[in-house]
Amino acid sequence: MRTQVVIIGAGPSGLLLSQLLHLAGVDCVVLERRDPEYVLSRIRAGVLEQGMVDMLERADVSDRMRKEGLPHDGFTLSVADTRLRIDLKGLTGGKSVMVYGQTEVTRDLMDAHRARDGKVIYEASNVTPLDFNGPNPSVTYDKDGTSHEIACDFICGCDGFHGVSRASVPDGAITEYEKVYPFGWLGILSYVKPVDHELIYSNHPNGFALASMRSEKLSRYYIQVPTGTDVKAWSDDAIWDELKIRLGSEAADRIETGPSIEKSIAPLRSFVAEPLRFGRLMLAGDAGHIVPPTGAKGLNLAASDIHYLSEALIEFYGEKSAAGIDSYSQKALARIWKAERFSWWMTMLLHQFPDLGPFNARMQQADMDYLASSHAAQVSLAENYVGLPY
Ligand code: FAD
Ligand code: DHB
Repeated sequence: MRTQVVIIGAGPSGLLLSQLLHLAGVDCVVLERRDPEYVLSRIRAGVLEQGMVDMLERADVSDRMRKEGLPHDGFTLSVADTRLRIDLKGLTGGKSVMVYGQTEVTRDLMDAHRARDGKVIYEASNVTPLDFNGPNPSVTYDKDGTSHEIACDFICGCDGFHGVSRASVPDGAITEYEKVYPFGWLGILSYVKPVDHELIYSNHPNGFALASMRSEKLSRYYIQVPTGTDVKAWSDDAIWDELKIRLGSEAADRIETGPSIEKSIAPLRSFVAEPLRFGRLMLAGDAGHIVPPTGAKGLNLAASDIHYLSEALIEFYGEKSAAGIDSYSQKALARIWKAERFSWWMTMLLHQFPDLGPFNARMQQADMDYLASSHAAQVSLAENYVGLPY
């Protein structure tokens, strides 16, 4: 079998790339280790930047998001006794974000692939990228007990943090930057009315809490828990009680509680691999970088990588120019590092760091007081939250 581009991974990065290449007439095949139901069962991000919304529009997968997504013009920050609404729209000259779950984005992309008979091979095991530094790249995989090989021009590694693509790059060719935080987020999804019509990010002496949502009837909440916490140690009742404490008395009086339909813990990590291109192998999304979720940048960064990468591949086939491929890594990394900085800063502002002592707590309070008193500081926060330009 031969195709122009093999995409490894059918998460949001891989499916969005495949969809954009298809619309431009570039032939590609997506190889995914899991089955579609498993991919859809992973509850992850919930906030889309304007740039990602526009990309979904261009990819012709925005109809349901336009109907069911919730545009948000602001959010609330709460640190100790200071509460502050960040007026995204007012501070950025009219920009906002869209609350629409990663699961729904993925489902819309899957539906679009099914409708056009797009080539996505699920439950492909032992996926192996070969000869990407040479003239004849290919990818081998096993499916239903048979081995297959696909010859191609390019391999796109969209297979997440634990994927095979980055792991296939020889050690000396890649530099990895990493910061691991001593806590994770325990997330709960429940069919209850959100406590507020906007998100609330809160730093309480007991730890971070976030009140988010997926719709007007479906809420998503998170609390900071120490690394190594067993999700079974937290009953639904214990999570609701802790949320009432950490979100403050005003929210506690209004919060609606109910049984969880999903509960999981995500570790927090900052990570960047440099470069993102190795001959004819390019990394995109979580395969190349991870941000802590504070600030909702993970999925949005995956989308901006796919913007640069799809343009580069379309230019390669359309205009016979490798200029976009040659500059992909540098262009994507310039935006990635800024999102890394923002996510790290929001994480430092909003979490409890027992190891960093009382000085750190005072720095957080000073940061918050500065934000509350400075229009310039709020503009900076808002322009990063709605997403820096592509
Ligand atoms: P992924 O979504 O990881 O997709 C990669 C795909 O590749 C998967 O389907 C995987 O099965 C497949 N794959 C892996 N290895 C192979 C292989 N060897 N062969 C074939 N296929 C393979 N971001 C936010 O902004 N907000 C959040 O609240 C948030 N919560 C998160 C919670 C968790 C537990 C995690 C892990 C991430 C979270 N993120 C969040 C980050 C966000 O979800 C990711 O940035 C986003 O999923 C990146 O998309 P991706 O397509 O690059 O990678
Ligand atoms: C969600 C996740 C985030 O990381 C964030 O900053 C905002 C919302 C969410 O899952 O809803």
